[in-house]
Amino acid sequence: SELKVGIDRVGFYTPRLYLEMTDLALARGEDPAKYHVGIGQDKQAVIPPTQDVVTMAANAATQILRPEDRSRIKMVLFGTESGVDNSKATAVYLAHLLNLAADTRAIELKQACYGATAGLQLAADYVRAHPDALVLVIGADIARYGLRTPGEVTQGGGAVAMLVSADPQIMALDAQSAYHTADVMDFWRPLDRTEALVDGRYSTNVYLDFFKQTWTAYQQQTGRTIADFAALAFHLPFTKMGRKGLRQVLPEASAAHQQELTAAFEASQLDNRNVGNLYTGSLYLSLLSLWRHGDLRAGDRIGCFSYGSGAEGEFYSGVLQPDYQRGFDDAALTTLLADRRAVSVAEYEELFQQQLPNNGQDVQLAVGADSAPYYLAGRQHQQRQYRHRM
Ligand code: CAA
Repeated sequence: SELKVGIDRVGFYTPRLYLEMTDLALARGEDPAKYHVGIGQDKQAVIPPTQDVVTMAANAATQILRPEDRSRIKMVLFGTESGVDNSKATAVYLAHLLNLAADTRAIELKQACYGATAGLQLAADYVRAHPDALVLVIGADIARYGLRTPGEVTQGGGAVAMLVSADPQIMALDAQSAYHTADVMDFWRPLDRTEALVDGRYSTNVYLDFFKQTWTAYQQQTGRTIADFAALAFHLPFTKMGRKGLRQVLPEASAAHQQELTAAFEASQLDNRNVGNLYTGSLYLSLLSLWRHGDLRAGDRIGCFSYGSGAEGEFYSGVLQPDYQRGFDDAALTTLLADRRAVSVAEYEELFQQQLPNNGQDVQLAVGADSAPYYLAGRQHQQRQYRHRM
């Protein structure tokens, strides 16, 4: 029989601060229902200057790594579009912070929100060729559109860390998948900018078009139809986006199955509602949310739609494994989300402007309130100062 390869363990980290979307709506003169219902977001992660994609990834990965994994991890594939250097890969900093063995490849992957999916698929192919190896795949980002922009309600941030292995605990990936690339200017971030440029409504149309293209190609390639899926999980830049994707294919299902797919979607968006957009990590937080809150059984097939503006889309699938609930720490994730502190709009605006400035000056950050295991202490001589507290 064919070797099973897929997601063995998953960790998730988001900082301890959030903004209530009702507070943001009132401050921006919008009806709170637009944000909660129209966009589908309740809370947004607020990222303190002491966290960046490297520290968030380390804080996610440290939850799932066991001492014996460190010599088996042969690659670190770090998907991000919020990198901290134009040359050096975030994966190299991460491999060092996690104390991984030196015979590890460490690479950063960039294609907007698609980077972690690229990492996952490349990792799966690698493990099919090297069944004893483990690959650490990261999706970590800070979604920044700017104060008082239409995209502001769809900001957020955090990191997902996944360990890819043979005989995975959580989900075995099907070998088939369908992908689609086209040069589209729906969302991008020129080198001089810390906030994304976006043609917002256009980007939602390109997303839906790429979903249709890859879903159709996947069905032609595999002979599977919607009847083969217990759930569909989506890249969720905001939860309404995935809801629109689901609506596009729901008519293909029977009435009873439509209810099942809708219930699964509700489970898959619960955690994303309270964190916001993670760019590369969003689909993987949604899968985690589905596994945590959904009514699923071993053997269920889950369809996944990944989308990265610019643009690339991929539809792939996986089969849930008997011990899937042991591949993540459900109680710890509930605590992580519940123990956050709400910030006022004024405090959020101040923190938004405090991200490490692009001026090369030495900075010493006030670390006091950040109790995460890994954090950024500042910058000296143009070098980021990463720290680990035991
Ligand atoms: N009560 C309930 N619903 C309300 C409402 C109210 N009082 N007022 C408005 N709404 C609804 C609207 O009817 C609309 O619903 P539908 O989309 O179902 O029609 C929804 O709220 C949003 O309203 P608008 O379209 O008027 O919102 P907007 O123009 O202010 O901005 C946005 C929406 C374009 C998504 C904007 O937030 C944005 O640019 N976001 C960033 C871009 C983005 O996330 N794009 C997604 C695809 S690209 C991608 O996926 C990659 C990535 O991660 C970036």
